[in-house]
Order: sequence, then structure tokens, then C-alpha cells
Amino acid sequence: MFYAARMRICCIGAGYVGGPTMAVMAAKNPKATFTVVDVNPSRIDAWNGKKKAELPVYEPGLKEIVEAQRGKNLFFSTDVEKAIAEAEIIFMSVNTPTKTYGVGAGKAADLRFVETCARKIAEVAKVKKSGHKIVVEKSTLPVRTAESIRRILESGSTKGKFSVVSNPEFLAEGTAINDLLNPDRVLIGGEKEAVEKVASLYASWVPNQNIIRTNVWSSELSKLAANAFLAQRVSSINAISELCEATGADVEEVARAVGLDSRIGPKFLKASVGFGGSCFQKDILNLVYLCEHFGLHEVAQYWEQVVKMNAHQRVRFSRKIVKKLFDTVSGKRIAVLGFAFKKNTNDTRESPAIYVARDLIAEEAQVVIYDPKVEAAKISELVPAAKVAKSAIEAVTGAHALVICTEWDEFKDLDYKKVYEVMAKPAFVFDGRNILNLKALKKIGFEVYGIGRDV
Ligand code: NAD
Ligand code: UGA
Repeated sequence: MFYAARMRICCIGAGYVGGPTMAVMAAKNPKATFTVVDVNPSRIDAWNGKKKAELPVYEPGLKEIVEAQRGKNLFFSTDVEKAIAEAEIIFMSVNTPTKTYGVGAGKAADLRFVETCARKIAEVAKVKKSGHKIVVEKSTLPVRTAESIRRILESGSTKGKFSVVSNPEFLAEGTAINDLLNPDRVLIGGEKEAVEKVASLYASWVPNQNIIRTNVWSSELSKLAANAFLAQRVSSINAISELCEATGADVEEVARAVGLDSRIGPKFLKASVGFGGSCFQKDILNLVYLCEHFGLHEVAQYWEQVVKMNAHQRVRFSRKIVKKLFDTVSGKRIAVLGFAFKKNTNDTRESPAIYVARDLIAEEAQVVIYDPKVEAAKISELVPAAKVAKSAIEAVTGAHALVICTEWDEFKDLDYKKVYEVMAKPAFVFDGRNILNLKALKKIGFEVYGIGRDV
């Protein structure tokens, strides 16, 4: 049994995973020291609260935890080498985007950031008296990456001894703090002694039976499989939503009826304009690439269809908007409400709103976007031709259509009578998240469309 008490931990990568994960670990292990390092100085400044900047990641409950631990046992720094040299356990929580060049472009994971980290760890271990270091894969990685990392770490004349452990993260954005505080499971794969040392970091708040120990390959693959299963449920209900629109069935009613079967369960059956976020698409494509690599073509095609269905759902939504607006949106003002890929986050990576806005702009619509948490500069960077509004009411004023792309609670509670008054007529509502009471809106005078449920 190990005790995390006075351990020194380093996390490379101060992003959506590294920051929140280490903040919660620091809160739960007050005697251990956690240093989160990043090559991006402005990100580190923001984590350090410099110049009153907002934290780089918006998550309910995160600020409070960071402010309570920062400067006590939680530190954010750009001094990567120092943090590596001092740590017994090094988490790698760097980005692993889809490769955009060379072999596997468009599918394989780009492992250059992970490799850079491994080389940096090996380099620091070469010159410092390093002892035994545990290197933890926190990033989502293809199966067997641990082997490559181990080879890099052990190449050359290092003074250190290394163990490579897989400990994938299952938090979802928007609920990250709750997910970290109450995880369904913590998964740790690798050699027993190193696994137990990493497990000791979680032991102060996660029941032992929820800490799953596996071999390292199972751990790596379980992460890709979990994301594939989750995304597959969204694509499944979205496929049914199209059939609902063709037949007059209501996808919300179908999802409820299906989800009440205890073997299926109710979660992740919310039809939508499509899943977004930095991981579902990237991790499935990574899985597809892996299957192709091993010659498993049918398996690869099976999973690839989940991503294709998602792209179809997004296009289908923007086409429906154009069709219902009398087959042309040219010159029409269209208010897109919500730009984050889901509520309670400022993350816009792969947000369906980006695709919908771009499609509408390609049809020469005047798109006006409002999001309560995404910075205007980010919206302009991703959709330069769109205007950015400071409020929902500003966005919808004069608009022919109101399009919900993110399920922010504030969009449920807008004064829709007032919204109707300020919009051009006929006033259309397209609810890409099925959060609105379409019947009530219809009574006000709107022409309304949901996903898989028209009234
Ligand atoms: P992110 O892009 O928000 O953060 C990654 C950070 O790593 C960046 O700040 C970058 O500057 C830094 N970095 C890259 N190379 C570096 C280097 N050599 N040295 C120091 N810093 C370096 O990414 P994220 O969303 O936190 O995701 C990280 C990993 O976790 C990915 O593999 C992702 O698949 C996985 N994951 C993400 C989520 C999520 O909700 N975002 C959930 C579970 C798992
Ligand atoms: C997802 C997983 O849920 C996490 O377990 C995982 O750790 C993470 O990916 C990751 O590896 O990055 P995240 O993408 O943050 O988390 O958020 P989700 O709640 O999974 O939502 C993903 C997308 O699917 C969002 O756009 C969401 O709106 C959409 N979604 C989700 C639906 O359209 N319908 C649903 O029923 C559920």
C-alpha cells in the first residue's frame, strides 16, 4: 500500500484535462504537491490568475477549487524541466489531435506532442539524479503507445528507471468537477507496483472497488471504446430522429420508451444537431485507423459510420433551415444561439454550431452568433463572416430565424413573446437541441422545428 502523502507530481499539459484533474487531486491530497506545466505561457498566466484573467477553462466549480489550492499544493508553471526533475509521478496530459499530414492523415492520432514530452522526460532524467519515475498516460492514445513511450524513455544513457502507466480520463466538459469528484470508475493499466502508486493518488476519495486495475493495453483501448460507445448512442438516436421527421414520430418519446428498458438505459439518447467536442470524432477516427492497421476492415467501417452519421446530421439541420425559409436564406439575418459544443463550457472544438454557421454563410445568410461563455474573438476566428452579439435578444432582433445550437439554460427561459415581437415575420425557430416547448412557441406565432419532432 502506498500513501500519496508527500509525493511530488507533475502534469505536462495545462488544458481542459490537466488543469481540472490536478486541481481536484490537489484538493484531495493536501500533503502532496502538484505542478502543472505547459509550453504556452499565456495559459499558465491565466491559470495563475494574472492580470485578473479568467481561467483558461470554464467549468462550474473549477475556479473555487483552483483558488483554494493554488500556491499551497497546486502550482502552474512554464518551467517544464524543473517540474519533471522534481516529480516522482509525471502525468502526460497533452493534446493528441487527428493527424493532418502524412500517413494516416485525417484519421490517426498525431502523437508528436506526446513524443516531445517523452523525449523531454528522458533528457531531464539524463542530467539529473532522477530515481524511479512513473510516467502516466493521461492523454487519450492509440493502443500500444505505452510501448513507444517506454522505448523513448529508455533510449540513450538515462540515470532514471521508468514505468509507463495508462490512466485515461473520462471526465466530460461542463461536468468535469463533478465527474472528477464522483467518477464511475478510475482506470489504471500497467505493472502492479506503479499502478498501486498511481492508485494511491485517488484512494483518498475514490472507493477502492471503483479503481479498476488492468493491463496497459486494455486500459488504452477501453478509453477509445468508451468514447466510441457514447458517440454511437448519439448517432443512433440521431439516425432515428431523421426517421421520426419522415414518419411523424417524436424522437423524444421514442428515446424515453427505448431508454426505459433497463438494458439500454436513458442516458446519451438526446437527439441533437450532432455531437461536437475535441474527442468523439478524433477518438473514433483513431479507432478506425487502428482497425485498418490491423486489417480489420469491417470493424473499421462499422465505427466510421458513427462519424459519417454525425456529419450527415449537421448538414441535414442546416439544409432544413434553408428549405423551410422558402429555399433561400440569402441576405436573411439568422440568429445562432449557442456556439460552445455543449452547455457549461467555453470549448468550441468541433462544435456543430461552427458547421451550421458556415453552411448558412455559404448560402449568403447574415449570421449573428451569441454564446454566454465563448469569447467573441474565438467566434470571429472560427466563423469570420459572422457577426457576434452580446445577448440573445440582440442576436434575434430583426432575424428571420432563431437557431439553437447549444442547450444553454438561458435559451429555455428567454421571453419568447418579446423575441417574437422583435423578429422578422414569419418568425422561424429551429431547435437543434430539443430544449424548447415547441407547442407553446407555435401558440405565440412562431413556425417551429425541432430535431426529430415537428409540431
Ligand atoms: P488541450 O489542448 O486543452 O491541452 C493540452 C495542453 O498541452 C495545451 O495547453 C498545450 O500547450 C500543452 N502541450 C502540448 N505539448 C506540450 C509539451 N511538449 N510540453 C508542455 N505542454 C504541452 O487538450 P485537452 O482537452 O486537455 O486534452 C488532453 C488529452 O486528454 C487529449 O489526449 C484528449 O483526448 C484527452 N481527453 C480530453 C478530455 C476533454 O474533455 N477535453 C477528456 C478526456 C480525455
Ligand atoms: C466525452 C465523454 O462523455 C467523456 O467521458 C470523455 O472523457 C470525453 O468525451 C473525452 O474523451 O474527451 P465531452 O465530449 O466533454 O465528453 O462531452 P459529452 O457530454 O460526452 O458530449 C459530447 C457531445 O455529444 C456534445 O456535443 C453533446 O452535446 C453531444 N450529446 C451528448 C448529444 O448530442 N446527445 C447526448 O445524448 C449526449
